[in-house]
Amino acid sequence: MKTYNIALMPGDGIGTEIINEALKVLDSVPKDFKLNFKEYLIGGIAVDKASNPLPQDSLEGAKNSDAILFGAIGGEKWDKLERDLRPESGLLRLRKELGIYANVRPVRIYNALLDSSPLKKNIIENVDLVIIRELISGIYFGEPRAKEKDRAYNTMAYTKNEIERIAKYAFDLANKRNKKLCCVDKANVLETSQLWREVVSEMAKDYDDVKLSFMYVDNASMQLIVNPKQFDVILTENLFGDILSDEASVISGSIGLLSSASIGENIALFEPIHGSAPDIAGQNLANPIATILSASMMLEHLGETKTAKIINNAIDSVLKDGYKTKDLAKDSKDFCSCSKMGDLIVKYIKEQNG
Ligand code: IPM
Ligand code: MG
Repeated sequence: MKTYNIALMPGDGIGTEIINEALKVLDSVPKDFKLNFKEYLIGGIAVDKASNPLPQDSLEGAKNSDAILFGAIGGEKWDKLERDLRPESGLLRLRKELGIYANVRPVRIYNALLDSSPLKKNIIENVDLVIIRELISGIYFGEPRAKEKDRAYNTMAYTKNEIERIAKYAFDLANKRNKKLCCVDKANVLETSQLWREVVSEMAKDYDDVKLSFMYVDNASMQLIVNPKQFDVILTENLFGDILSDEASVISGSIGLLSSASIGENIALFEPIHGSAPDIAGQNLANPIATILSASMMLEHLGETKTAKIINNAIDSVLKDGYKTKDLAKDSKDFCSCSKMGDLIVKYIKEQNG
């Protein structure tokens, strides 16, 4: 039987809770392949146990796997450490070392949750957009960078190759979807954005069917809230994509619903876009759906589309029947725990496949 080796990286805070629910779902879903899991340390817990937010063994385990399923990292406990020891450095180094340059963050609307979003129903109904965020360059990684006593600086830099690589991913995706690509930048101020515009415009000549537009990031952050339906695929650089994707999660009702794939030439990593939520860690209150959807994206990426669909359908049905985790239930006391949500999704999977 076909077997995939999956590196599990639960990380910190709610990481273990949400990964456990994803495992429950992956275990229960009918499949004609095997998943072989191996767990690795990353983030704050890796700092505590191995004095390194990305131990060598974890990096090698990730490199030798078919895919990585990631929870979340970070927490106040480690905030005062020097940069290289912070949990976030572990994730950033992992992304860079794996070369996973294309971060894919879909925003979809569940009709059952139209009331969970603070935005009006008529604005968010039928929204279906994907943010393609460049993940391993830009200001996150640019040199020189430094924090001195009275001055600090970072560098935003992009090469033509880096832009072409991510833009190709976005054009190809737009071509398979609704054929609209909006490149979000700050070309009225930043040289990097000006180069992005040149490169992306040139590439558009090879994609006759894709309608390309450009939008300044300040305007885009407003348009996402005022008229999100105008977007199909949004292409943007690392920092803008980080910010816009948190903003876009408001459209779907909760950041606990947004999954992501980070894709490179050889390997891919799947993670919820939310963080480690230390305030609710260990209380069985987290929403596991973003992680379960990330697991489903992982199966799709591995070519197991049918199995991925079963998971997505079960999530649809559970939400349609009105079940909500705390983040979605607003002030109501009527919500289910993290593990209950996982159990329900498993139950629906079993029912669907009788
Ligand atoms: C994300 C997160 C990370 C990022 C942090 C944890 C380093 O916010 O994946 O969006 O900034 O990329
Ligand atoms: Mg972020």
